[in-house]
Amino acid sequence: MTSDNATAPGDATVGKAGSPPFDTSKAHQARIYNYLLGGKDNYAADRGPAEAALKVWPDMAFTAQANREFLGRAVRFLAGEAGIRQFLDIGTGIPTAGNTHEVAQAITPESKVVYVDYDPVVLAHARALLTSNDAGATEYIHADLRNADSILAQAAQLLDFTKPVAVTMLAILHALPDSDDPYAIVARLMDAVPPGSYLAISHAGSDRLDQESQQSIGDSWNGRVQQQFTLRTREQVAEFFAGTDLVEPGVVPVEDWRPEPGTTGEGKSTVWCAVGRKR
Ligand SMILES: C[S@@+](CC[C@H](N)C(=O)[O-])C[C@H]1O[C@@H](n2cnc3c(N)ncnc32)[C@H](O)[C@@H]1O
Repeated sequence: MTSDNATAPGDATVGKAGSPPFDTSKAHQARIYNYLLGGKDNYAADRGPAEAALKVWPDMAFTAQANREFLGRAVRFLAGEAGIRQFLDIGTGIPTAGNTHEVAQAITPESKVVYVDYDPVVLAHARALLTSNDAGATEYIHADLRNADSILAQAAQLLDFTKPVAVTMLAILHALPDSDDPYAIVARLMDAVPPGSYLAISHAGSDRLDQESQQSIGDSWNGRVQQQFTLRTREQVAEFFAGTDLVEPGVVPVEDWRPEPGTTGEGKSTVWCAVGRKR
């Protein structure tokens, strides 16, 4: 788990499927997201591209916040109504308020959560993710989503794959280009869990941001941000849910997925999301 396959900050392991180097001169997805959420775990190299994108895409900060709030509502649904006790959270991000284990264990204390991320900055914060209550448990795996078999093998040390698992991949799959075949990776993960398991995804939408803005953001991020992003349409996001039944309301902008009473789904985020139950 944290000791397996670990790349300490300072290592420069890069590869097709490996951890990006700990490099504070280049922006990283995890730290840009942290900046947008108002966190302090980011550097000037992260804030520059974030500010450049905010100029052409002012709703980016709203989108990050709305995505994080979706995480809370989705995990509450999974731990509550869906009765899930095991979570595999891939693309954890830098710990912040409302981490998956905190949300799940507040509802069902015996929830077990395995976190996975490949960013050395997230690894440096892994201890904050390993603070389970006594009844439940959490583990952190430092690994690349593209190594699905390795993730499954390590996760099996804590999770029982004969019982339902919620696989959550929020704001991560758009960091995988089509050449990495993200559909096959999601299918591999969902093949490993039994019927009655769940899949939750949020994903930046190419049909939620006009071409001109996508171009400007791409130009200003090119060479400055570790991850290149592949935005996908609502239909392409729905394809990740093959073999599952989508729970209501299906594939919608993150703020519109079962919003809390009294809040309005403003429909202005650029991220699609859905939750599906494996048949
Ligand atoms: C934007 S954050 C999302 C955090 C959290 N899931 C949320 O929605 O609030 C995306 C995370 O995915 C991680 N990530 C991106 N590509 C990855 C990969 N190939 N393998 C593992 N983690 C990856 C990044 O390091 C980052 O921490």
